[in-house]
Amino acid sequence: MIDSPEPRFSEAALAEYRDILRRYPERRAALMPTLWLAQREFGWLSLPVMEHVAELMELPLAWVTSVASFYTMYWKRPPARWHLQVCRNLSCALRGAEEIRGALEARLGIHDGEQTSDGRFALEEVECLGSCGTAPVMQVNNAEYHENLDVARALALVERLAAS
Ligand code: FES
Repeated sequence: MIDSPEPRFSEAALAEYRDILRRYPERRAALMPTLWLAQREFGWLSLPVMEHVAELMELPLAWVTSVASFYTMYWKRPPARWHLQVCRNLSCALRGAEEIRGALEARLGIHDGEQTSDGRFALEEVECLGSCGTAPVMQVNNAEYHENLDVARALALVERLAAS
């Protein structure tokens, strides 16, 4: 993870960026994968990182920041060690997502959108994770799905993560 006042893509990231551009009919259509690349490169999307992306893509900064702020998969602050995203949409809500979120809040001592003071856990409610058939669903670190959850399984997962 690189965090400097003037972040710049590495040569490898620039090569990947050029590959991304080739897959889209116009530059601005490549913004989301480029933001994803930037997040991987720098760890999170700070304002300087978004400025770099805007400059690179020749897009208004407001366009870049509005896309980054709309989607929860883009992190606008340094990530916690374990970032827990609990789906709150209909299928998950009907199958107990709110109880799971409440149990996680009680266990971690934080609310939606917050991080624990030691930076180990962040908790966030998100829109549909695209796995409604296995609701309720929680995603960890933008990568790992935990499906058909209940309160006991969610808390057991947190204990495993806390111990790692
Ligand atoms: S409603 Fe939760 S994954 Fe779709």
